[in-house]
Amino acid sequence: MSDTALPPGIERILYTEEQVETKIREVGAAISEKYRGRDLKLISVLKGSVFFLTALARAIEIPIKIDFLAISSFSTQPNAPGLVRIAKDLDESIQDQDVLLVEDIVDTGFTTRYLLQTLAGRGPNSLGICTLLDRTSRRLVQVPVEFRCFEIPDRFVVGFGLDYKQLYRNLGYIAVMDPHRL
Ligand code: IMP
Ligand code: MG
Repeated sequence: MSDTALPPGIERILYTEEQVETKIREVGAAISEKYRGRDLKLISVLKGSVFFLTALARAIEIPIKIDFLAISSFSTQPNAPGLVRIAKDLDESIQDQDVLLVEDIVDTGFTTRYLLQTLAGRGPNSLGICTLLDRTSRRLVQVPVEFRCFEIPDRFVVGFGLDYKQLYRNLGYIAVMDPHRL
């Protein structure tokens, strides 16, 4: 696709739809291998991770369950790290299950760490992280990412579930966004 054909604000495509799908199949195969014979549940965070969750779930060859939660972020002061709370909880218990938290992106790590701490308190048999995108250059708190599709540069990205002001989640590719071009 030539740049002129890209939607407003989209600077360039970072990963094409085909690259994303190929990578998700690889990660799905690795997850199937690791969790074969166990009780795997994928937990997705609304709304951004839903696109990745459904693609990943179809790339996994073993029986799995899925559940969702929603969070909302807020700040006590401008420029302070965002605080997070659960706005919609899981429907079912995760006790004694093998749980994979499915994330769209791990950036500073604050959101993921909060979710891990919350889920760890509910007695899962194991708890891992699988993320579509990982931006380790901006990490402020360490979180153990076990499966990831892409390590990305320090640029704002959209597509495959990731949004800019709720826009562009439905792009099949992952693209660098420059809001000044909107
Ligand atoms: P963290 O708590 O800093 O790791 O932030 C994670 C959340 O910030 C993600 O779940 C996204 O909602 C959002 N986010 C971080 N970077 C981007 C990006 O490049 N594009 C879209 N959303 C992002
Ligand atoms: Mg978002």
